[in-house]
Amino acid sequence: MSRRLGVLISGRGSNLKAIIDAIEQRTLDASIAIVISNRADAPGLDHAVRAGVETLVLSHKAYPSREDYDRALVEELKRRGVELVCLAGFMRLLSPLFVDAYQNKILNIHPSLLPKYPGLHPQQQALDDGALESGATVHFVNKDLDAGPIVMQQSVPVTPGDTADTLAARILEVEHALYPRAIAAVLDQ
Ligand code: GRF
Repeated sequence: MSRRLGVLISGRGSNLKAIIDAIEQRTLDASIAIVISNRADAPGLDHAVRAGVETLVLSHKAYPSREDYDRALVEELKRRGVELVCLAGFMRLLSPLFVDAYQNKILNIHPSLLPKYPGLHPQQQALDDGALESGATVHFVNKDLDAGPIVMQQSVPVTPGDTADTLAARILEVEHALYPRAIAAVLDQ
């Protein structure tokens, strides 16, 4: 498999930064061909710019339908020879059109031990459930939300007094180590 990654973000981009760092530290043998954000104001874009990685803002609002938007995304990724797409806080559901274009070549990171707590606010879901542990999962993206085959998971404890924010911060630390490792494992397959 080629080692050209495309990273899709919508916001902070701390996982993108972790991927950039792992490439720079040579623990991940890959390059990022493009970072695409659906939001022009995503702070994460700065991480890419600072690392000299090409960025592109493609606003979903400029397209009449989800399919049209996804077609444009796929076109931009393919044009740059992207082989593996890494979703890193990309807050958009992918249509079957996208999933078919990159079948088994799309990864996502989710802040829970899937299949537990898919969807929005997984940290709050864990707290509401009285869970004693939660964690992070890297998985392949298929047509069902947060339900594709799992690549790697790591758990963290839920501690007394946790809020969604404190739990999210503990999980995020784990995410930053897990995502580059999972990408490397997929590229080595
Ligand atoms: C992370 O918690 C990730 O698991 C989830 O969205 C968050 C993105 O954070 N999918 P960041 O933009 O990578 O900092």
